[in-house]
Amino acid sequence: MEKEGYNRLETLQKIAHQQGTPVMVIDLEQVRRNYRRFQKNLPGVQIYYAVKANPAPEVVRTLYQMGASFDVASLPEFHLVRDNIKHLLPQEQQEFIWDKIIYAHPVKMINTLHELEPFKPLVVYDNFDELEKIKKHCPSAGLVLRLEVPNEGSAVNLSSKFGASQEDALALIVKANEAGFTVEGLSFHVGSQCTNFTNYHQALSLCAAVFEAAEEKGITLGNSRTGRRILDIGGGFPVEEYSAGAPRFEVLAENLLKQIQAIFSEEIEVIAEPGRFLVANAGTLIVSVIGRAFRHGKIAYYIDDGLYGTFSGQVFDHQLYTLKSFRDGPGEICTIFGPTCDGFDTVSPNTNDPQYPPGYLPRMELGEFLYAENMGAYTLASASNFNGFPLAKVVCLNH
Ligand SMILES: Cc1ncc(COP(=O)(O)O)c(C=O)c1O
Repeated sequence: MEKEGYNRLETLQKIAHQQGTPVMVIDLEQVRRNYRRFQKNLPGVQIYYAVKANPAPEVVRTLYQMGASFDVASLPEFHLVRDNIKHLLPQEQQEFIWDKIIYAHPVKMINTLHELEPFKPLVVYDNFDELEKIKKHCPSAGLVLRLEVPNEGSAVNLSSKFGASQEDALALIVKANEAGFTVEGLSFHVGSQCTNFTNYHQALSLCAAVFEAAEEKGITLGNSRTGRRILDIGGGFPVEEYSAGAPRFEVLAENLLKQIQAIFSEEIEVIAEPGRFLVANAGTLIVSVIGRAFRHGKIAYYIDDGLYGTFSGQVFDHQLYTLKSFRDGPGEICTIFGPTCDGFDTVSPNTNDPQYPPGYLPRMELGEFLYAENMGAYTLASASNFNGFPLAKVVCLNH
């Protein structure tokens, strides 16, 4: 619940006046609400926040305080988490707790493995060469095997790049076992922004089959600390705010729980790696109109952020963000361009393509602010300084 008397749009404009634009406002209370919603609907599932979605240190600290663990996929992400949570640990636990982190990238650089080695990390693998590399450069690791699962209909496909095939899975477990590793469990990713819940159901059945095949070979997968097998159900949990009619998380969670209870024994430790679900609707971007012109008979606005910046999510994450005015007024179709010299840098084109709609705004004046909601995930994280334009500032609200 927002505090009484809190006016969100007024607050956003005040921040834009104080900080200048472009500015990304992250509502940490919304991050907490998302976390609680996930926990409430998937009780007992430990959340490993996928840092890549939004690596703002305040987000990492907020989620740690809520009880989250973390999914990192590079050495800088690993250090970001470590640096931000070490000092938050209670005095008696100053030793860093390494099972708070899973290194979820199945293919790691050799220097990364060397740096991870002293921490006895939990790492993901999905191929034979990686196993060799881990054995040589990070023999203290605990392993999670990632499986290739259907990514049908998800906004971002990951299965073309990662995941052991069902045919290879058993051999990879046997080989790891022979090399002296503990395979602590299985993981998968159904593709990001997964609205086709069948992907999850097929992935769970596949995991059950691989656990069973290993058992038949006399290998029991298990977490060396808890004795329980890890079932890492990955990310993909969809953000409803992106599009009308998106399926509800509650429905997915209920089905997931039912299936997990039906096909796995109690010795299972279920973890998940949500990224966008925790942060997407917590981020609002505010930009300024820096130029205005008539192009091809239509009004066109130039703004101070674009596809090379925070709107890079439209390129890499395949999401569209709607720019809105802070004031009412009769709307008109418009084109919205980013600030760089590239024609591709068009945030809302003037097209008839329903997949890529034009902007619709009241007539804007130079210097006026616009805002776009649901921009907290995979936006600033993939922004660049192309053409010399600085990245949006980040302001975190803790109301
Ligand atoms: C291994 C892994 N885990 C978790 C995530 C987070 O996914 P999402 O933001 O869809 O929840 C990703 C995203 O690419 C990923 O690659």
